Amino acid sequence: MTTRTAQDYRSITPMGLDRSILPWRLYQKAKKWGIWDPAALDFSQDKEDWKGFTDEEKGYILRLVSMFVAGEESVTLDLIPLADAMAKEGRTEEAMFLTAFLFEEAKHVEFFRTFLNEVVGVDQLHELEGNLGENYRRIFFEELPQAMNRLYTDPSPVAQIEASCTYQMCVEGVLAETGYHAFFSMLEKNKKLPGLLEGVGYTKRDESRHIAYGQYLIQRLISVDRSLWKVAQKRIEHLLPIAVGVVHEIFQGQEVGAFGARKEDFIQYATKQFQIRMDNLERALTRSVEEIYHQREEELGVY
Ligand SMILES: [Fe+2]
Ligand SMILES: [Fe+2]
Repeated sequence: MTTRTAQDYRSITPMGLDRSILPWRLYQKAKKWGIWDPAALDFSQDKEDWKGFTDEEKGYILRLVSMFVAGEESVTLDLIPLADAMAKEGRTEEAMFLTAFLFEEAKHVEFFRTFLNEVVGVDQLHELEGNLGENYRRIFFEELPQAMNRLYTDPSPVAQIEASCTYQMCVEGVLAETGYHAFFSMLEKNKKLPGLLEGVGYTKRDESRHIAYGQYLIQRLISVDRSLWKVAQKRIEHLLPIAVGVVHEIFQGQEVGAFGARKEDFIQYATKQFQIRMDNLERALTRSVEEIYHQREEELGVY
């Protein structure tokens, strides 16, 4: 049975909550930027645009939205073990940020599902599952739930690094980021689906905080045990080819897809995202844990 002493409740200690550390600042930003309401988005122009799309264009958008909606549902369900691990370590500020993080993921599921219901139409949604390819299933059906749920029985630093490399580095930092890039490059210049793009913009901003938290968490662990850098590297090397495989699945064998999107650009974009994350993580090798706690959110791409 879990018990606590009064000293475990940080909010009643003389110091109180630590307002100087990065998770607290991310929590403040979440209260400001994470409160947009998916139910308030206007999809009326999107419904008109959808009617004018070719079957190929509909296929690409539907594939991306299907991947996103199932992916957002997965990250909503799979974040809880990490919040549990931080709560058990007594990291109140991190648990507070993770509650906002979880709330935001729930809204992302609602957002993409509302687009499907309102714009595509429920009667058109019978074969959504067919949009999830083999690599996608490997990440969202196996790698992510396994890495996260392991934390319930093994919350060790190695398990936390492997979980966060899967969740925040690969799924959010590479796959979701590449997906936003796809939405914007396909739709923004063609001025299509403005309701979807508005919601994707808000989602992307929320994700910048989530990815920053993951980088902070991994850096914090590496800064106290530098041998964990190899664990992060190995995990990311394992996941990169699967993530690139997901990009191939979006294009289904084509080099140039709908709206002039080129597969090679997206593969390069995904690979570049991986490199950016690795470069940020590597900084932990030359920093103290105090420096990691107090780094600026802007350094980690939060906006
Ligand atoms: Fe999300
Ligand atoms: Fe997220």
